[in-house]
Amino acid sequence: MMKITYLGHAAFSIEIGGQSLLIDPFISANELATEVNLDELKPDYILLTHGHEDHVLDAQVIAQKCGAKIVSNFEIVSWYAEHHEIEGVPMNIGGQIQLDDVTIKSVTAVHSSVLPDGSYAGNPGGFVIWDSESCIYVAGDTALTLDMQLIPQICPPLAVAILPIGDQFTMGYKDACLAAEFVNCEQVIGCHYDTWEPLNLNHDEAQVYFANQGKSLLLMAIGEEAYI
Ligand code: NI
Ligand code: MN
Repeated sequence: MMKITYLGHAAFSIEIGGQSLLIDPFISANELATEVNLDELKPDYILLTHGHEDHVLDAQVIAQKCGAKIVSNFEIVSWYAEHHEIEGVPMNIGGQIQLDDVTIKSVTAVHSSVLPDGSYAGNPGGFVIWDSESCIYVAGDTALTLDMQLIPQICPPLAVAILPIGDQFTMGYKDACLAAEFVNCEQVIGCHYDTWEPLNLNHDEAQVYFANQGKSLLLMAIGEEAYI
């Protein structure tokens, strides 16, 4: 069982296996997320899928406030260490780490990546996160890719997949529905939609499309919690 809280755009808080994980915090500049209080976020680790500002904006402030470590690729973890003296756990695609009872595996994403100051940010990625009871795939910003078919072969069965569905910069919802098929997961939580006008999503259309494929698309309200 894990507790998932949606914080807007691609940001989530995930409580799993005794760890509090914060994913891709872009909150203070998200006009839809004004009710999320940054001071209430006290993660143990901040997971960054890639360096784009709409994924890393609040990582520094939160890490410095509560002592959270950054989990990301080598380049991003090194950047936070060098520029902000924030500790981290570096990874790269295909590797996994153990945080007590929680395993995090870094997986492929097809996208681009650069830090807000123009620094090289390595390759973008996604994460598969599990404990002894449940497993979640956080795709990050990505296109639909055949590499997703590897995930059910190398990770525990997924309880849920967090997939971008807003199109233009990532998959749209139809590709995301096929991605859910590739990773063998019926329960999807959508992200990376509605934040700005180009990402606007027709919620009903997307959810009906998933239902017709025998899948469920959960579109969480910002601040909403789900237990999966
Ligand atoms: Ni991006
Ligand atoms: Mn993005």
